[in-house]
Amino acid sequence: MDNKVTFTIRRAEPADYESVARIFAGPKAFSGTLQLPFPSVERWRQRLAEPPEGAFNLLACVDNEVVGQLGLHTFPNNPRRRHVGQIGMAIRDDWQGKGAGSALMQAGVDLADKWLNLFRLELEVYTDNEAAIRLYEKFGFVVEGTLVRFAYRDGQYVDAYTMARLRNIV
Ligand SMILES: CC(C)(COP(=O)(O)OP(=O)(O)OC[C@H]1O[C@@H](n2cnc3c(N)ncnc32)[C@H](O)[C@@H]1OP(=O)(O)O)[C@@H](O)C(=O)NCCC(=O)NCCS
Repeated sequence: MDNKVTFTIRRAEPADYESVARIFAGPKAFSGTLQLPFPSVERWRQRLAEPPEGAFNLLACVDNEVVGQLGLHTFPNNPRRRHVGQIGMAIRDDWQGKGAGSALMQAGVDLADKWLNLFRLELEVYTDNEAAIRLYEKFGFVVEGTLVRFAYRDGQYVDAYTMARLRNIV
């Protein structure tokens, strides 16, 4: 049994682009998300250098090594969606199942609840992604519906659940 690892969570900086591209080079990481194989390092450099307004990119690190990423996208310029955040995340293939996803999600939820005052968090997850679904349920996300043939993955269409977490606002 592994000893419990402590993950440090911090904001992604432009200089992190190689580490983030490395996360998405892993087959499990790109298969579980909407990324493609062979990620472009240059594209990640651009994304981290010029994130869209309202985007929060968090990283999980072990001894200063980046092992996971969570993006929280908000809608500061859409008055009727200001209460909403959309989440996407991936842990580097060799670090999955060790608690990094839980540490990142805790930080993302705390940011959303306690600092951004969001009360609806939403995400999509492939219906066969048991680890991700378990993680999201642990943080209060519930399935709202099934998106049939949501994406194409490794030669087949796959369904996704749309999940949301509504914070109690009273
Ligand atoms: C899904 C993912 C983000 C989860 O992060 P993680 O660091 O692996 O998850 P954790 O180690 O924090 O575990 C979270 C929960 O999932 C469960 N879990 C972990 N691996 C599992 C597996 N292979 N099968 C079933 N459940 C699993 C754990 O038991 C844990 O629940 P618990 O704390 O109640 O025991 C990560 O595996 C990942 O990046 N996968 C590839 C990309 C992806 O699928 N991203 C999500 C897109 S929606």
